[in-house]
Amino acid sequence: MSDKALEQSVRNALGNINVPGGGVLSQYPGLSDIIVTQSAVAFAITVQPGMEAAFKPIVDAAKEAVASVAGDKKAMVSLTSDKAAAQKAQKAGQPKPTVQKEPVKGVKTVIAVASGKGGVGKSTTAVNLALAFAHEGKKVGILDADIYGPSIPKLLGLQGKPAVREDGIFAPHEAYGLKVMSIGSMLEGDQAVMWRGPMASSALKQLLRETDWGELDLLVIDLPPGTGDVHISLVQQVELTGAVIVSTPQDLALIDARKAIDMFARTQTRILGLIENMSYFECPNCGSQHHIFGDHGAENTASELGLKFLGGIPLQMAIRENSDSGKPVVATMPDSIEAKAYLDIAKKL
Ligand SMILES: Nc1ncnc2c1ncn2[C@@H]1O[C@H](COP(=O)(O)OP(=O)(O)OP(=O)(O)O)[C@@H](O)[C@H]1O
Ligand SMILES: [Mg+2]
Repeated sequence: MSDKALEQSVRNALGNINVPGGGVLSQYPGLSDIIVTQSAVAFAITVQPGMEAAFKPIVDAAKEAVASVAGDKKAMVSLTSDKAAAQKAQKAGQPKPTVQKEPVKGVKTVIAVASGKGGVGKSTTAVNLALAFAHEGKKVGILDADIYGPSIPKLLGLQGKPAVREDGIFAPHEAYGLKVMSIGSMLEGDQAVMWRGPMASSALKQLLRETDWGELDLLVIDLPPGTGDVHISLVQQVELTGAVIVSTPQDLALIDARKAIDMFARTQTRILGLIENMSYFECPNCGSQHHIFGDHGAENTASELGLKFLGGIPLQMAIRENSDSGKPVVATMPDSIEAKAYLDIAKKL
């Protein structure tokens, strides 16, 4: 067997070894190149500091896997730990297995709204969905987890900072019957949040845990775009009931949506379904529907990936104007076609 072929056989064999935190060794970001020499097959596994003991059985299994395909070549498998690799592994969606998930006090159900790409309408969808659940008579809260670019205060027309009780717990804002928390309410004007990963995670934790949510049937969490620190921190901290993915029908947005889907799958988070935003434009003059960003892309992707398609939301001026002026359509025009799209999806969820 050539060295290249042997390397591939070793890699395939490592594909049968599960690693702590989910996934298999051949896909593990801390796995180095596999070097085949005349007498040995060598590689390193770099893990997060503190995870060495958990990976000890993986090293033994890897040696056995090498022995099974490499004849009498020696298996040289080394285990190292380093911080940069830890960060890489976390970015790739590997949760820290040591973190304990805890329920949010008083909250029965937690749903995250996510997308891979920015600007596809996550926040608008999150707000209107939360309002649609409230419309059904549920007690609902919304948490803006977009620490770097909070937009919920604007979408709900919030003014001022949330009150802080004597015991240091936030009393959330209330808007259109929703309890609302966002770091955006605590920033000055256009102040940018320039926090590094751990600080963003810590801010999220505080907003989530140090808020008096009262008794909620449902907490909707509006995530930032992408699959970064905040997402990983959230899935580590909270047992999510599930995640809803928002995408536009554009191919590009769908490629990114697949990344978000992959991240939730890796972290064992249930995906409740896919929403196609800006699905079509209904012409106010002629009444016909125009599929500006392509036809049913999200719907096709959903069925390809075996996910539930929750429905499409039209691209409508009223949605943009009302959202951006703090008067979301489900609260202010509940009988409109635009609001109906959100209400229908909430029912399906
Ligand atoms: N269905 C829609 N019809 C018309 N405009 C929409 C629709 N959905 C969202 N928008 C508009 O698109 C813009 C982006 O929406 P939004 O802020 O909700 O996206 P986002 O995915 O949360 O963005 P980010 O990634 O920056 O958090 C806003 O101006 C919003 O009003
Ligand atoms: Mg947003």
